[in-house]
Amino acid sequence: MFEARVLSGMRPTGALHLGHYHGVLKNWVKLQNEYPCLYFVADWHALTTDYEHPGRVEQNAWEMVVDWLAAGVDPNQAILFVQSHIQEHAELHLLLSMMTPLGWLERVPTYKDQMEKLKDRDLATYGFLGYPLLQSADILIYRACYVPVGEDQVPHVEMTREIARRFNHLYGREEGFEDKARAAAKKMGTKKLRLLNELRTKFLEGGDADALKRAQALLEEQQNIPHGDRERLSGWLEGGGRKILVEPEALLTESARVPGLDGQKMSKSYGNAIGLREPPEAVTKKIRTMPTDPARVKRSDPGTPEKCPVWPLHLVYSDEARRAWVQKGCTSAGIGCLECKQPVIDAVLAELAPMRERAQTYLDDPTLVKSIIADGCDKARKLAVETMRDVRDAMGLTYS
Ligand code: TRP
Ligand code: SF4
Repeated sequence: MFEARVLSGMRPTGALHLGHYHGVLKNWVKLQNEYPCLYFVADWHALTTDYEHPGRVEQNAWEMVVDWLAAGVDPNQAILFVQSHIQEHAELHLLLSMMTPLGWLERVPTYKDQMEKLKDRDLATYGFLGYPLLQSADILIYRACYVPVGEDQVPHVEMTREIARRFNHLYGREEGFEDKARAAAKKMGTKKLRLLNELRTKFLEGGDADALKRAQALLEEQQNIPHGDRERLSGWLEGGGRKILVEPEALLTESARVPGLDGQKMSKSYGNAIGLREPPEAVTKKIRTMPTDPARVKRSDPGTPEKCPVWPLHLVYSDEARRAWVQKGCTSAGIGCLECKQPVIDAVLAELAPMRERAQTYLDDPTLVKSIIADGCDKARKLAVETMRDVRDAMGLTYS
């Protein structure tokens, strides 16, 4: 009943690296061709942990957006915006906080994990506990169907589903719902109404999920049904109340992991990252000096690719034939490590060259990025305002 929108956000961490590209951005670029997509800078989320240093947020945000664009995120296809520019997120967060059980937030796994990890900061704050709920507001306000995220974020999307369900349950059951839904269904004409009823019964009594899908599709085809009635009918088809908020699904990003130069997870703070905009000489040097299988002390010592941080890079960048060449050459000491690294260096440089070029356009003229974001914010705001109207209405907050 709502178009299948994709939404995802990233905290502003500054310039991005190859790990971000292969783990997230490549997927964003692919999705923008398949769905209407919204991608945003989660700057309020950055403040939940960095509230002592808010000054860094702006610079980090612009650098990150430049890297999105450099990586191929296309502002003509996807809507790019900044969370704090759409104040409706804050209003929805507040309203959702009224009905969110504390226990739901306390039991989100990232809550205790992050507290443990970031011991140097005082995270016994209200904002930090509310982190996943703010994320729920981000998602629900655009009625997003799909949320591409990494594994660690799946519990947040799960909680968002529960929040949407609870919201619809509490506020979607208006007085006379059944009658209103039936009256709305009548507007479809007798023939379609009969089909709709049949499909609904098949789903509600027979659990036929396919029938529900067909019924929702039928509903979607109807041009003349006003928005409120659509929500009602969509909920009614499922045997519930009005569906004001949409339950999203996590889209797990399946991608080859690009490890850092030392074989650990790539991360700027570990100093093992290759930045998307690093000059070719620096990239070449970093890979050439990467550690390899410690067993290969001398050129004549055979090695084991599985024990070498260069091997996962071949898994990302090399085809079958080249991987076989590495396996054979490494285990027989037939090739040297620099020889083995060269095709990886070439592949990374080839991947980064167009990114650096695209980034340069935006670095030369920073107003370009600002106007892309301003335009994205306008588009995002329109959608957010629409949802908030329904939310306020459902919660009885539209009086004056
Ligand atoms: N919590 C996410 C992260 O750390 C960022 C984020 C904030 C987000 N709001 C979101 C991701 C909404 C997806 C949807 O990566
Ligand atoms: Fe690693 Fe390649 Fe050297 Fe083997 S030959 S140790 S895989 S760099």
